[in-house]
Amino acid sequence: MNTLEITGLKVHFPGRGGAPVRAVDGVSLSIAAGETLGLVGESGCGKSTVSNATVGLLSPTEGSVKVLGTELAGASRETLRAIRAKAQMVFQDPVTSLNPRMTIGEAVGEPLLVRGLARGAALRDQVGALLEEVGLRADHAGRYPHQFSGGQRQRIVIARALALRPALLVCDEPVSALDVSVRAQILNLLVELQARHGMSTLFVSHDLAVVRHVCDRVAVMYLGRIVELAPRDALYSAPRHPYTKALLAAVPEPDPVTQRAKPRVPLEGEIPSPANPPPGCRFHTRCPIAVDRCRSEEPAWRAVGAASVACHLA
Ligand SMILES: Nc1ncnc2c1ncn2[C@@H]1O[C@H](COP(=O)(O)OP(=O)(O)O)[C@@H](O)[C@H]1O
Ligand code: SF4
Ligand SMILES: [Mg+2]
Repeated sequence: MNTLEITGLKVHFPGRGGAPVRAVDGVSLSIAAGETLGLVGESGCGKSTVSNATVGLLSPTEGSVKVLGTELAGASRETLRAIRAKAQMVFQDPVTSLNPRMTIGEAVGEPLLVRGLARGAALRDQVGALLEEVGLRADHAGRYPHQFSGGQRQRIVIARALALRPALLVCDEPVSALDVSVRAQILNLLVELQARHGMSTLFVSHDLAVVRHVCDRVAVMYLGRIVELAPRDALYSAPRHPYTKALLAAVPEPDPVTQRAKPRVPLEGEIPSPANPPPGCRFHTRCPIAVDRCRSEEPAWRAVGAASVACHLA
């Protein structure tokens, strides 16, 4: 059984002009036990909406979200509560994720206390162990969030997410708000925890360079849909979809020689409004190789090498 199974997920929001905002408009993906799936795409393409639906914070307009085989769409409050223990979220901003009036020990221990899983000395011990697991000191449990740096605060948020030993960790842009200098440390920590606990991870980022180091497979999202899904190495060495190629071309290479040799695939124009997506292939208004057919006919999802791609010409 897959830890996460999303099928035909649509999440539409009421739009101002009457037309619904089709934030997520037909997404299917799965994550096996112990696997990390990256979800990438430009800001506004629907990544956070998928994340929120995955942990039951948003209910689907259509489609199915199953965590460990349990359906979240239309689930009762008790079912959602049980599933939320198994699917934990790490948000982008560690400052707003932590209550400034709670000590970090209280914050990390809260999920255990609320569910009656530990209290007193046992709770203190578990909190201490969780803090140490994320590279902090157990005897700092009595301190407040403002006494820690951004990177340390994200460690605290991760410790809290681990408290209930989730089967699925959903990380929504977990390093985007952090200093570049501490990003690698947090990514390494996530990889290490993943290896130790064997949990499944949905790792969301607008940055392909970040995803590369943590994921087994990568899904590329554009305007509410997935356009390419491939094993990590296949995606980076042989991208198939013109949008994936454009995103990769925008990632700077550390080596100036490689950088100069890089093919230039300009990604021009704005992302169209999800309230009024273009007909045919949604990417046709920005695609450098679009043909007539792309403007009227929606590309089917098909296998190309190790990848699955939605493009007429891939
Ligand atoms: N609660 C909401 N109400 C209306 N529109 C929303 C809401 N949440 C997100 N959206 C819109 O849905 C689209 C996808 O948003 P989001 O999932 O946050 O994208 P991403 O995380 O990839 O940046 C955007 O156009 C956004 O403005
Ligand atoms: S289907 Fe056409 S417009 Fe869409 S990505 Fe492929 S070539 Fe470009
Ligand atoms: Mg987002």
